[in-house]
Amino acid sequence: MNILVTGGLGYIGSHTCVELLEHGYNVIVIDNLSNSKIEVKDYIKTITGKDINFVEGDVCNKQTVEHVFATYPVDAVIHFAAYKAVGESVHKPIAYYQNNLMSTLTLCEVMSKHNCKKFVFSSSATVYGDPKQVPIDETCEVGATTNPYGTSKVMNEQILQDVYISDPTWDVVLLRYFNPIGAHHSGLIGESPVGIPNNIMPYIAMVANKELPELHVFGNDYDTPDGTGVRDYIHVVDLAKGHVKALDYMTRQKVGVDAINLGTGNGYSVLELVQAFEKDNHIAVPYVIDPRREGDIAVCYAATDKAKDVLNWVAKKDIHDMVKDSWKFKMGLQGVVHEEN
Ligand code: WQD
Repeated sequence: MNILVTGGLGYIGSHTCVELLEHGYNVIVIDNLSNSKIEVKDYIKTITGKDINFVEGDVCNKQTVEHVFATYPVDAVIHFAAYKAVGESVHKPIAYYQNNLMSTLTLCEVMSKHNCKKFVFSSSATVYGDPKQVPIDETCEVGATTNPYGTSKVMNEQILQDVYISDPTWDVVLLRYFNPIGAHHSGLIGESPVGIPNNIMPYIAMVANKELPELHVFGNDYDTPDGTGVRDYIHVVDLAKGHVKALDYMTRQKVGVDAINLGTGNGYSVLELVQAFEKDNHIAVPYVIDPRREGDIAVCYAATDKAKDVLNWVAKKDIHDMVKDSWKFKMGLQGVVHEEN
């Protein structure tokens, strides 16, 4: 099967390309390199021994997407390409809605024309907003989002639902990620955002590497055991494997539209994450307590029953794998080669 992966050189996209290639899929990637690096293509080859078919371009550009479908016989699409910084989205709503919505609309239009109607969408736990209950299951209300990033994910889910209603020969899986962190054990691919990271894990790695003076912990007055925010961190390789399972699901049966959480079901506070990083990597992460960050919620972690029942998928890596692999990737970026432990 030929899978088109949009944003396939990005953090989650590249790890998913590795898993797809290792499971025998042919992979086509379209990526405009706005938040990824072309050398990731070579790292994917080093890890898997296989090439991807790469097209540099913007998924919002209809001619580019037409070119991809005219060149390759695409059987299914996994759509990662999107802007994804919560804080940034509050200041740049037009750019976020334009990019995150037009990309999906352009894909659906061209896919329909080429009779390609299997769509895996990179959604997010942010669609749940501030949950009324935890763990969060897929029947929980969506839509009460607190930022344009999360709202664009809700809108995309609605677009795909309406596309299915208009043509029930479509199959759509909405994968709602909790907090992806970590990196491939090779240390070759991982999360390396441009500039100062918005997300906590790359920020911690930069502090540990003395590129930044200290971590700013956004609030310690939440109703949690140590007062800091609790999240369901999931290893990016487990997340990538969930996408292969979603394709298997769509291949073996009629799906319609199905939303599935990808999380571990375990919540860790900011300070617990910091302590795990320090202990497992034998390195200090100095921090200061700051006021809460606008738009943050206190607690968010997944109910994982549906992913197990429907996809036969369970996250296997724990917080220790996540913090060790994150640091190994960071050291790899510094040219420090690690012996396999
Ligand atoms: C995690 C915790 C912060 C930074 C968002 C998106 C989600 C996904 C991941 C893309 C919170 C605290 C953070 C810092 C801190 N996006 N924190 N200091 O906001 O849970 O989720 O990013 O894939 O869809 O919603 O992730 O890593 O920003 O924050 O104290 O410098 O760390 O308050 O409790 P978040 P995050």
